[in-house]
Amino acid sequence: MSGLISRVKTYWEAGPCGTEDPRLQGLEVNSREWFEKIEDIRYFQEPMIFSAAQFTRHRGKKVLEIGVGAGSDHLQWARAGADLHGVDLTEAAVQTTTKRLAYYDLQSKLQTVNAETIPFPDKHFDVVYSWGVIHHSENPATIVKEISRILKPGGTAITMFYSKHSVRTWKYWVRHALLKGKFHWGIKDVMWNHMESEGTQCYTVNELKKIFGDFSEVEVRKYMTPYDLTWIPSFLRNLLPDSFGFFSVIHAKR
Ligand SMILES: C[S@@+](CC[C@H](N)C(=O)[O-])C[C@H]1O[C@@H](n2cnc3c(N)ncnc32)[C@H](O)[C@@H]1O
Repeated sequence: MSGLISRVKTYWEAGPCGTEDPRLQGLEVNSREWFEKIEDIRYFQEPMIFSAAQFTRHRGKKVLEIGVGAGSDHLQWARAGADLHGVDLTEAAVQTTTKRLAYYDLQSKLQTVNAETIPFPDKHFDVVYSWGVIHHSENPATIVKEISRILKPGGTAITMFYSKHSVRTWKYWVRHALLKGKFHWGIKDVMWNHMESEGTQCYTVNELKKIFGDFSEVEVRKYMTPYDLTWIPSFLRNLLPDSFGFFSVIHAKR
């Protein structure tokens, strides 16, 4: 494993996404109550996941989730009755998600894998889902090529990437470039150095369409998120369009 991806792994091994929230304080780690609080917080913050993923439309389908993290969405896929597989770069995510599914007697085949090489044959899955993951990898375009390879003809990739142009990334630029006198830094530099693990990338809609160039139908939809709206005065919030949102959700057909 190269230097950058091993640092990405070390970052996420310290705690899967969503497990660090201060609202979890007082709850026993890995208890059912702890997991259910994580679930409440996640879908309060990111309710668009339900319309983007449409978990229940894929009952009985062969689904792979890349980057399961703490397993919130993986649980929804399992509840919806998918024939479910999951991978993550970290042991922490795989172990946490395994414990979480066990509370509900639900199953998935989980593996610790760098998704730049996905250990499944060509044309294997109906759906590949990945929320907020691929932009953390060293070679995001390689993961998208792998997704294209393992999807069946007519299969769907549902992914979320961070947008380059959004209220959140502009706020980050002000904080980490403008106010620090790093005037030569662009938004991509700020995201690389300050957004979660080192090396995080962000994309314009056109860049995303290019990365998904192998797919037959590609739809990119941006969503305004609570992360965009913090520090924004309430009278302005309803005026901000989704095109200034931090999440870019891509539905792409093989
Ligand atoms: C921001 S978290 C998102 C987790 C989950 N999808 C969610 O939305 O809560 C990013 C996850 O991607 C995983 N990840 C990063 N790079 C990866 C790679 N190359 N292959 C597989 N998983 C990766 C990390 O280990 C981490 O669990």
